[in-house]
Amino acid sequence: MNALYGLGQALLHALDPERAHDLAVKSLELGLYPRAAAPDDPRLAQEVWGLKFRNPLGMAAGFDKDARVWAPLLATGFGFVEVGTLTPKAQDGNPSPRIFRFARDAAIINRLGFNNEGQAAALPRLLARRSGVVGVNIGAGRDSGDRIGDYVSGIATMSAVADYLTINISSPNTRGLRDLQAPEVLAALLGRVQEARGKAEKRPPLLVKLAPDIADADLPAIVGVIEANGVDGIVVSNTTLSREGLKDRSFAAESGGLSGRPLFVRATRMLARTYQLTKGRLPLIGVGGIDSGAAALAKIEAGASLLQLYTGLVFEGPKLIGGIKQALVEAMEKAKASSLAPLIGRDADKWADREL
Ligand code: FNR
Repeated sequence: MNALYGLGQALLHALDPERAHDLAVKSLELGLYPRAAAPDDPRLAQEVWGLKFRNPLGMAAGFDKDARVWAPLLATGFGFVEVGTLTPKAQDGNPSPRIFRFARDAAIINRLGFNNEGQAAALPRLLARRSGVVGVNIGAGRDSGDRIGDYVSGIATMSAVADYLTINISSPNTRGLRDLQAPEVLAALLGRVQEARGKAEKRPPLLVKLAPDIADADLPAIVGVIEANGVDGIVVSNTTLSREGLKDRSFAAESGGLSGRPLFVRATRMLARTYQLTKGRLPLIGVGGIDSGAAALAKIEAGASLLQLYTGLVFEGPKLIGGIKQALVEAMEKAKASSLAPLIGRDADKWADREL
């Protein structure tokens, strides 16, 4: 069976990256995917924000933009799935080609630009009961005249069906979106979002997803605003505009966000700095360049309570999911720990001082 999926993997890589992605989503919809072999080791379970995660590994936002395949993704072994980014209205995103694969670097550049069918279309797909956690990532429309208003309406629309909500202000592919990370603007945005949450019947935990390109000097003020406005967690990080560490230069000049292995140190360093600033008060989701058990463990040691990945799955295939969980169990055994808790942030100081 694994050989079959290996063959599928090879075929996917022979296709244009966006066609390959669409085909992967189709296969999941049709039930053609490998199921997790065994139930998760109970030591991998955690309760975060009052939600029960059976393991810490999540599918990052952007794979299941329209909330079509979160159930099969959970069945492959992920502990949670973040769907979206969903904008208030349907939009096409940028012209193709808009995804570029770098096999030698295990990296991707994408400039999709929030192509999605809109929040109303996703809503009924999220009503089903689930045995894992499903977060909803929301964004602002490309041509919106009121970006903050788009987040406010996103909260109002999606709160009823989300286990948690992530405010994505860090995509590099919607012009000006990252400007919402400026502390004064972010304070205004979060103030209005919290007001909208106050009116919603259900109030799922609220997360903010940051870019890895925030300067060291700017991070404390941003994290300060996030904490002061009662946000429950931070996702570190989105894709980078940097092209450092990319050996294959064939598409390096393409605009868009870089993900995968070359992002790992940058994102893990910022995760550790965010952990130092929040001192464990806010659970963090570590994402960016996880493509092995060792990389997943490093994120936890840098301060992540939970993990997400996307690009690693493209290059390593679904076996990566079980491999990471196994590596985390082994790390707990080595540390004589009965949960991940003692491992979280134990190397934050080392990671925070890493040179870029
Ligand atoms: C993304 N990512 C992303 N993030 C987000 O918040 N909303 C989105 O719609 C998307 N879309 C998207 C599309 C594609 C093709 C990729 C590769 C990535 C970013 C993703 O969630 C994650 O933060 C980064 O990719 C870093 O993690 P990996 O890929 O290095 O594990």
